Amino acid sequence: ATVYRKDYIPPTHWVDSVHLEFDLHPQQTHVHSTLIIRPNEDRINNDLVLNGRDLELVRIVMDGRELDRTEYTLMPNGDIVLRGITKEIKLEIENIINPQANTSLMGLYLSKGNFMTQCEAEGFRRITYYPDRPDISAKFTVRINAPKSVCPVLLSNGNLVEEGELDGNWHYTCWEDPFPKPSYLFALVAGNLKCREEKFQLKNGKKALLQIWVEPQNLDKTEFALESLKRAIAWDEERFGLELDLERFMIVATDDFTMGAMENKGLNIFNSRCVLATPEVATDRDFARIESVIGHEYFHNWTGNRVTCRDWFQLTLKEGLTVFREQEFAADMLGDSTARAVKRIEDVRYLRDRQFTEDAGPMAHPIRPESYEEINNFYTTTVYEKGAEVIRMLQTLLGKDGFKRGLEQYIRDHDGSSATCEDFLNAMAEANMRNLSQFTRWYSQAGTPHVRVRTHWDERSATYTITLSQFCPPTPGQTKKEPFFIPFDVALFNSKGKPIALQLQAETNAKGTSRVLELTDEEHSWVFVGVKEKPIPSLARNFSAPIIVDYNYSPEELVFLSQCDNDAFNRAHAMEELSLLCINEMVSDYERGTRMVINPHYRNAFESMLTDKSISPAFKAIALTLPSETRIAEAQPMINPISIRAAIRSLREQLGRQFSHLIMRVFDDNAPNPVYSPNAADAGKRAMRAFCFELLLAGGNAKSLLRARQIFETSKNLTERLDALRIIVNSASPTKFTLLEAAETEWRNEPLLINKWFTLQATATVPMDECPIVDVVQNLVERYPGYNAHNPNNVYSLVLAFCQNNLAEFHRPDGVGYKFWVEQVLKLDRINPQVSSRLARCLDGWRRYTPECSKLMFSALKYVYSQPNLSTDLKEVVGKALNNA
Ligand code: ARG
Ligand code: ZN
Repeated sequence: ATVYRKDYIPPTHWVDSVHLEFDLHPQQTHVHSTLIIRPNEDRINNDLVLNGRDLELVRIVMDGRELDRTEYTLMPNGDIVLRGITKEIKLEIENIINPQANTSLMGLYLSKGNFMTQCEAEGFRRITYYPDRPDISAKFTVRINAPKSVCPVLLSNGNLVEEGELDGNWHYTCWEDPFPKPSYLFALVAGNLKCREEKFQLKNGKKALLQIWVEPQNLDKTEFALESLKRAIAWDEERFGLELDLERFMIVATDDFTMGAMENKGLNIFNSRCVLATPEVATDRDFARIESVIGHEYFHNWTGNRVTCRDWFQLTLKEGLTVFREQEFAADMLGDSTARAVKRIEDVRYLRDRQFTEDAGPMAHPIRPESYEEINNFYTTTVYEKGAEVIRMLQTLLGKDGFKRGLEQYIRDHDGSSATCEDFLNAMAEANMRNLSQFTRWYSQAGTPHVRVRTHWDERSATYTITLSQFCPPTPGQTKKEPFFIPFDVALFNSKGKPIALQLQAETNAKGTSRVLELTDEEHSWVFVGVKEKPIPSLARNFSAPIIVDYNYSPEELVFLSQCDNDAFNRAHAMEELSLLCINEMVSDYERGTRMVINPHYRNAFESMLTDKSISPAFKAIALTLPSETRIAEAQPMINPISIRAAIRSLREQLGRQFSHLIMRVFDDNAPNPVYSPNAADAGKRAMRAFCFELLLAGGNAKSLLRARQIFETSKNLTERLDALRIIVNSASPTKFTLLEAAETEWRNEPLLINKWFTLQATATVPMDECPIVDVVQNLVERYPGYNAHNPNNVYSLVLAFCQNNLAEFHRPDGVGYKFWVEQVLKLDRINPQVSSRLARCLDGWRRYTPECSKLMFSALKYVYSQPNLSTDLKEVVGKALNNA
């Protein structure tokens, strides 16, 4: 059934306190819950709904009297309704759950014998009967009883207040969370775990106990996470004045987790790939990601937990804001401005690859959706990453200080309660005395706006006019859009490559060399005066809004910007535009059957950036890296992945051949520090080297193959080893089989590494021994003993990596990729609907592919849709793919 935002009704009852008692058992965990419930004065009726899913009810006792089966209603979906609750009551509920049979990883489940929970969004109802909605906060106390041998460690939210021994070699712990919280923030962890811990000095003089809990063999991989956590705590104190409010803050790692991590109050639970790291098992990117995710979950303590969401439509209220905070944290940890720009470029590329595609497809939704069938389908790049861009625009418009003032007011006004996106915007507007009513359209309208730019230089009057006009294409259910409030940052460069001082017609003097234009109408013009020569504009600098800029730059202007723009983001962006121009030409050459030639402007820009000694390797690497196939596809009216791949291959080969000497020199100039550190400067050098390597090998340099092999065999850090191995796997060399086998032998007992091994093969760009990659993947799924379809990381790194990222192999015109997709989607739907619906989304874009592929994709979707007993998750995604767009 569809849920609508407009149907929100406040709770009929409040929960003052919850006491939970667990007797842990893999198949038969007993849950005993005691609730103090009181009617809401403003209630619309007296029916108390307690949500429940897959629970075995033992008894309900109300105010000391056991209820008879006729005194409550058991709904078909598992909920219980108690009617006529008009005064405060004490409810005691006993139920039984089976963690071992729980493959959805929502609620209480087992991961390698350890008990874990995941309650957001609606997992608590899989633990016990409860009004499971985020606008009800209660004080939680928890008692966990378990056998000592299997579960030496018993954790829950808040402070440990009691522990002790029980008969029969059992023991118990009692936990008290001092802060009222909604049920989705509840957590319980029990098992055989070890921790790295430290007492950390807070700014307010108090000390907090920080702990990272992991399986014993992973204890040596927790140092970086703990250091990151300390940096995150200090940063939030410093930047936003937000302090840790608990005596104890715990992080737990688990291999079995659907998402990245979860911000349960005082007891964060993490997917192990987002927390465990040593140079041998994690790449530079992994290190950076871990720091970000640790920050993200920690920052939720204020933006999410202390102030939570009124209902799940408001998800971006906590997620968009927290992703933004996480991005600012990561940038501040980098310090210098180019390193920050590199991070910004990475974030924007991710947004363009994933979110722009989402916004252009059947699942397009505003950052605050108006309806959903399954809330789990809305933990999307739109809600998260576009949501973060919307917050960033506020900071751009209000300034850093104004934004901080607004955030402080928001927290002051709503601490300890649940809020809506309007509440947030109102606080921002009030604290800054600004009217943000038009800005709210970012919350209600889906789609990526295009901003068309026209410029006119008038020599006689020395004026330069910039005209911006906006247009947003229709999205499902929204044909016509009102104009957005778009902050549009511009600068103008003279022919010497210097930014000129900007003065608008109405102004008395020039100020600054960049300016944020505020586009609020469908179209508006700005006239700059004193512009004595025709300038080159730098537009939407630092990606000042999540839009597509349409401006007809000449290739010469793009080359100019790629060399002169003092906004590093736009400098790299100009390079990207040039490479896209070049690749698109080559795609056409390929489709016409003519020789593929490199665009000379791109070639020049490439050479000049490659040899520019004044820019950092990290920036060079990111600016020179060719756009992803998804990015190339985004810009094409009809997607033919095979042509895209052919063009990229040819481009690499030609660049590698034509510039082999230069590239070799750059390779040698970027020798990394022999002592590994994941810092951005060293990581940049490694990225630059990998880039050089790839081109050299593509260009036919045989020596580089040997060199790559040598690096794989001798380097101690995973970044270099994996880069080397990837390059070999994507070459024609038969060495790859030997090396893949060697890697398997070495990596088979380390889940983090075997997942990398899966992805290497799933994303291989050339068939293996004539064998199409789909067969390689299928073979691993069916026969490799280390692959487990119940483990989301295994599925993501093998099956999803193939379907989502290996476009040319997945979209083979014979349809074998789609056949494999159908099998996997249906099989996984029985295990974990969140995983199957995520995989299902790989066919979202079916209307945009070649007619051949499109037809096959359509039938694959239809076939899946026709199957009985699909999960609501999968049904929504596939249903939308078929009907909308
Ligand atoms: N709130 C978590 C985060 O972004 C995400 C958890 C969502 N989990 C889920 N199963 N839907 O930090
Ligand atoms: Zn989050």
